[in-house]
Amino acid sequence: MIKLNNYPTKDPVLVTCGLPYASGQMHIGHLRTYVPADVFVRLLKKMRVDVTFVCGSDTHGTPVLVKAEEEGLTPKETYQKYHKILADTFPKLNIFFDNYAHTDTDENKHRTLQIVQTLIDNGHIYAKEIETPFCDTCGRSQPDRFVRGECPYCGKDARGDECDQGCGRYLEPGLILNPRCAVCDNPTRPITRKHQFLKLSAFEDFIGDFLKNVDGTKNARNFALGWVKEGLRDWCITRDLDWGIKFPGDDSLVLYVWVDAPIGYMSSTEQWAKKIGKPKEWEKFWKPGNGRLVHYIGLDIVQHHCIFWPAMLKGSDYNLPFAIVASGMVKIEGHNFSRGRGYVVWVQEDYLDRGLDPDYLRYYIASYTSQTKDLDFSWDAFADKVNNELVATLGNFLYRGIHFTHKHFGEVPKGTLDSKLKKELEKAIETITNAVNEYELKKVADEVLRIAAVGNEYFQSQQPWKLVKEDMEKTGEVLFNALALAKALAIFIEPFLPSAAEEIWAQLGNEAATIHESLLDDALTPPVVGTKIIKPKPVISKIDEDLLAELKEIISNRVAAASAAQSSEVEIKLAPIKETISFDDFQKIDLRAGKILTCEKVPKKDRLLLLEVDIGTETRTIVTGLADQYKPEELTGMTALFLVNLETKKIGGIESHGMVIAIEKGDEPGRWLPVTVDGVPPGSKAA
Ligand code: MSP
Ligand code: ZN
Repeated sequence: MIKLNNYPTKDPVLVTCGLPYASGQMHIGHLRTYVPADVFVRLLKKMRVDVTFVCGSDTHGTPVLVKAEEEGLTPKETYQKYHKILADTFPKLNIFFDNYAHTDTDENKHRTLQIVQTLIDNGHIYAKEIETPFCDTCGRSQPDRFVRGECPYCGKDARGDECDQGCGRYLEPGLILNPRCAVCDNPTRPITRKHQFLKLSAFEDFIGDFLKNVDGTKNARNFALGWVKEGLRDWCITRDLDWGIKFPGDDSLVLYVWVDAPIGYMSSTEQWAKKIGKPKEWEKFWKPGNGRLVHYIGLDIVQHHCIFWPAMLKGSDYNLPFAIVASGMVKIEGHNFSRGRGYVVWVQEDYLDRGLDPDYLRYYIASYTSQTKDLDFSWDAFADKVNNELVATLGNFLYRGIHFTHKHFGEVPKGTLDSKLKKELEKAIETITNAVNEYELKKVADEVLRIAAVGNEYFQSQQPWKLVKEDMEKTGEVLFNALALAKALAIFIEPFLPSAAEEIWAQLGNEAATIHESLLDDALTPPVVGTKIIKPKPVISKIDEDLLAELKEIISNRVAAASAAQSSEVEIKLAPIKETISFDDFQKIDLRAGKILTCEKVPKKDRLLLLEVDIGTETRTIVTGLADQYKPEELTGMTALFLVNLETKKIGGIESHGMVIAIEKGDEPGRWLPVTVDGVPPGSKAA
């Protein structure tokens, strides 16, 4: 549960971020995890907390394999390429990890095998045969992102292991309905294969208790508790692929990427410990004790972090997460992120390459809305925040105060801190500290702006531009206080705007880099009288109108291009013509009009409908898999085309004597329409 006195703490804190897949460039969706985590780390440092910050690239699994096939590279070449791009992008955003690793390192392979072996030794893993999708055209098993179909929970278009367009649930292998190969688009066929399972069901009570106590954001806890209530299914931890870490004892299977990926948090900490020359230092976080693990993630991966991961840690005797902080998702103009549909904003191409200041994006992402809410990205909202908050309120006050002092004094004038202003600063430190405890950075940003507004009001009411003509001493007093507020603001904004804070710090006569070591409490100590003030220039500038228009156009063009490409894709995706058959073969087919007399659902079979069909000569029982698309009353009374000489087949335990002929809509894969011949008497034959 959220407590308001968790921070500051003497306990060492490890902050991690959801590891980006090394299969693409960084986009602003990713930043919803990385920016708040970096801001949080900087705030903890300002509270004297011993904090370590690690991350790394996620190199295994089908995201990397799909990309490798797309680019004609090996999986290793693929992850190396994107790992480098990602690793180079973080510092450009002023995000600095103590270690940035990846999951294909020796450390990660070693730690993963150690954990899996311990889970086996502790009796948490067992083998079971299950049916998984195999593509005959591609000639291989197609797990996870290699298959698309319908989500069995919400019916939306989904990936093999994740309902990415609908309810967001993780999908166990074999659960997806109407699976089709994501490479060639042909339907896959189930094959039976032995896989390894983690006995999650046995962790149900443990996970329930864990979730009630874990700190972080309530969305993570509540979501996960909902799944626990539905009952936890055992978790398949292997895949039929050759890319990944082999399952110990069965070389034909690799571990599911979500086994070794979170272990990457641990192995990245081990790498960090070696790097600083204290190889055992990682244990202070990961071995049971007072170390605190704080995971920053997006809402899309709550199940993995709140259920699978704590079970793995518990089952292998490691420390458990102290907090799970889940952000709402970034959307683009109200749409889910989707490269395919053009709803994406790239950090390098669309932002950094346009010469935009990384600090502005940090500020926007961290302060736009509550951590737990979705963030609907728009360039207008971005420009609004920069122009009205950063420039008009914050930048304006800082520039006025420092500029005026520089012009008339050239140094910090004599003065004492006004007691009302001091109270405001004390209140700000308290509010910021509480907001950190709630993991709500918007509240921190709001408080910083409030102090800037207090500064503007103070400046306005004291009118130093008038005073300076009458009373230099009083003017000095006012400017001393303005500088005290400027100093406090530099400290408060550093977590959001590290570069701008450096500049302000330098203007106030300090060594720029030392701003990063400043503490929240230092905000109560006014600048030293006599310190030389540097001639200031505004540190924040408005977003140019023309650039703004260009940026907006980039997104709308991208969306338009994607939708044009998608509508032409329908033709390309038409199935190839099957092999030629003889006329004799064709004549064997007996197609007739059949009138559906009754139609009902088959109990416990979500997809099946039971039809009684008048085919002229007799009434037949026919079972069809259309229940997910039609209600029984929609089919009742319909006359459609039936294949009536198909061998009898048991479907869902019922003998079916024939088949309804249906046509798949070309622009809606998976949508089948019965070929209707309404008005034709039952029994009429087709050829
Ligand atoms: N590789 C996994 C995480 C493994 S953690 C052991 C993964 N990678 S990701 O590249 O898809 O996402 C990386 C981080 O960015 C995750 O924290 C994820 O939640 C976040 N986001 C990616 N896209 C996002 C949005 N559109 N919106 C908000 N955050 C999202 O997941
Ligand atoms: Zn779903």
